[in-house]
Amino acid sequence: MSLTGKVAIVTGGAQGIGRAIADGLAADGARIVIADISSAKAAAETYQGGMGVTVDVSDPEQVDVMVKTVIDECGAIDILINNAGIYASLEMRPFEQIPVDEWRKVMDINLLSMFLTCRAVVPIMKLQGRGKIVNISSGTPFRGVPFLLHYVTSKGAIVAFTRSLAKEIGASNVHVNCVAPGFTVSDGVKQHPEVLEALAEVSVSARTFKRDQVPQDVAGAVVFLCGDGADFITGQTMVIDGGQYFH
Ligand SMILES: NC(=O)c1ccc[n+]([C@@H]2O[C@H](COP(=O)([O-])OP(=O)(O)OC[C@H]3O[C@@H](n4cnc5c(N)ncnc54)[C@H](O)[C@@H]3O)[C@@H](O)[C@H]2O)c1
Repeated sequence: MSLTGKVAIVTGGAQGIGRAIADGLAADGARIVIADISSAKAAAETYQGGMGVTVDVSDPEQVDVMVKTVIDECGAIDILINNAGIYASLEMRPFEQIPVDEWRKVMDINLLSMFLTCRAVVPIMKLQGRGKIVNISSGTPFRGVPFLLHYVTSKGAIVAFTRSLAKEIGASNVHVNCVAPGFTVSDGVKQHPEVLEALAEVSVSARTFKRDQVPQDVAGAVVFLCGDGADFITGQTMVIDGGQYFH
């Protein structure tokens, strides 16, 4: 177990893709911190030594408090998974019809959140002389998916964020990578049957592997990027979509 004893924060880890990533990191020995706006503590209780922190990752003060709480309790932060985001609850519509408030909300939760968590965690990782950050983007910016312009823009920006931050802090031995999942039948998606109906079949038919993508499909790559085997990899984005888009 290559991650034994490593402290891993998973934002949005209470369900869906984040939960599967937390399961994968825990199976490799990591101590899991679930940082989520809901059900954080209940989810954390399922991991040995797990810790749950209720936090809105788009709120600067709450993020700073969350990181301080983790350091006070665990003494280190080795891994940060920036996974929290909104997706399935968003209405697909022509870009002119996206309300400005909704555009801002998507940018705050999907993108500003990563700036805030990295701003709080990277100084700690620099002091430790090591750290692994994995950001969750999406396959949508690579495919130019229409009718979700705010979402796709936020996810495209995460690729740029990953590359520039990786270059900026690489000399401190802090790694920053990204994974870009295809359409995934997560808890959030299952809560919106209309999204499943609109996208499940069309996604399967566009893939090389003709089946639904599930949260567990994303976890393996993230665990790999957090381990010693990825020590010479930074700034990269791995598309995980069953061979839909070749990146
Ligand atoms: N499901 C997909 O098809 C898909 C595809 C590509 C990328 N993604 C991305 O993967 C990530 C997880 O998606 P999912 O489908 O598993 O979602 P989900 O809705 O199942 O889970 C999202 C989690 O994030 C939490 N969260 C939301 N807003 C938060 C906030 N402000 N602060 C803290 N926690 C917050 C939720 O409480 C929830 O536990 C998202 O960033 C999403 O954009 C999803």
